[in-house]
Amino acid sequence: MKLFIDTGSVAEVEEIAQWGILAGATTNPSLLAKAEGDAGEAIKKIAEIVQGPTSAEVVSEDPGRMVEEGIAVRELHEHVIVKVPFGPAGLQATAKLRELGHPVNMTLVFSAAQAILAAEAGATYISSFLGRLDDIGIDSIATLHDVVEAVAENSTGAQVLAASLRNPLHAIKAAQVGADISTVPYKVLKQMLNHPLTTSGNDQFAKDWASKPELQVWMDGLVDASKK
Ligand code: G3P
Repeated sequence: MKLFIDTGSVAEVEEIAQWGILAGATTNPSLLAKAEGDAGEAIKKIAEIVQGPTSAEVVSEDPGRMVEEGIAVRELHEHVIVKVPFGPAGLQATAKLRELGHPVNMTLVFSAAQAILAAEAGATYISSFLGRLDDIGIDSIATLHDVVEAVAENSTGAQVLAASLRNPLHAIKAAQVGADISTVPYKVLKQMLNHPLTTSGNDQFAKDWASKPELQVWMDGLVDASKK
């Protein structure tokens, strides 16, 4: 499963990109509204850092205007793809954008039925939300599993992108049910990284290593010799 970062913050992308794990990024109007500075600059910088598909969302409710906005955001950076909210206008705009050769990430998808429509409209990515389903007592992983199965059957080539992740378990379960991508908030990526036994294990290694100073002398000598 590929990992995207779900943010409008360039600083968060810069930090996580150093881990070497990011294949792309997703933004949305709420994330951009929270971020500092110019939205266009942030999207351009994020796309340049991740060097992969970077979603920028259209905001009009009119299909024709959605297409115009989609074409416009695509000019921000070669890696920018158009994010379109699900609905009749979104389906119409997605079909037109695909006809014009623009890849679309169809977002706000909450059921396999919606995912089938998104796939048939030509969406390249289908953002299947988890957290917001859990928030209203619907099993998000069971829904994601249905979406993955339904889209696979459709064979339109659409990729299932798990979105609205709230915790590391969402990422684990998304991978297990076969999502192609998870777009993960900065906070959840940091939670995925950390484990108390890793921390204590590293602390013990350092303590034991320091108890025998000649070991560090040996390592430093090895490094120096490798540079000659
Ligand atoms: O950006 C799409 C999606 O991941 C946002 O979901 O529930 O975190 O606002 P949420």
